[in-house]
Amino acid sequence: MKNLFYFLSIAVIIGVLATCTNQSASQEQEEEQMVNSDEYYLEQGAEIVAASFKALSGRLMAAMKKGGVPEAVQYCNIAGLPLIDSLSEAHQVNIRRTSLKIRQPKDAPTAAEKKALDQYHAKFAAGEVLKPLVETNSAGDVAFYAPILLSEACLKCHGKLGETLKQEDYDLIKRLYPEDEAIGYAPGDLRGIWSITFVK
Ligand code: HEC
Repeated sequence: MKNLFYFLSIAVIIGVLATCTNQSASQEQEEEQMVNSDEYYLEQGAEIVAASFKALSGRLMAAMKKGGVPEAVQYCNIAGLPLIDSLSEAHQVNIRRTSLKIRQPKDAPTAAEKKALDQYHAKFAAGEVLKPLVETNSAGDVAFYAPILLSEACLKCHGKLGETLKQEDYDLIKRLYPEDEAIGYAPGDLRGIWSITFVK
């Protein structure tokens, strides 16, 4: 009788263990499937964009507080791209911001980004809601795009000249970015896109 009790206990324990291992095996399988799904990249991309936006705008606002537009423009000019590079490294992806109207020449769109920008602008013009999207590029890497819309605070450096953007501030911007095209915007306008590449 005692033996039977032991036998049953062990059988129950083995049964429980087997279910646990099965469960973790199927969980792993699920996670593996997740890694290759659009849903996974949409989630990761959104998180990286949120963290990058927070880092960039936090520093921009601090510089604005310290010395207004001139200080903040200098800050963006010197530290903008290095900050994005360090965020790229931290997240092990390639992060970029790009637009059809460029300020920093290094932000000029690639052919794939230009296509995505054209699609977003067509949707924006049609009054559609702009959502992030994921696609596999020609190199086989996954690219995540998300729209960048302008708020009131952006117009001090991207707004309408002589209205929201002061001439003296723009003179400074032009000195640093002689080819600048990134002005004339109104609040809510589509400024460009985040472009995140998950390099294999
Ligand atoms: C203090 C001035 C200033 C403000 C305010 C500002 N920007 Fe910029 N923006 C710049 C400068 C300068 C650059 C170029 C940065 C560089 O050299 O890397 C830039 C670049 C960009 C770019 C990259 C594409 C390009 O044209 O090079 C985007 C996108 C952008 N800004 C969007 C915004 C948005 C959205 C806001 C508001 C949330 C904003 N900016 C507020 C000065 C500003």
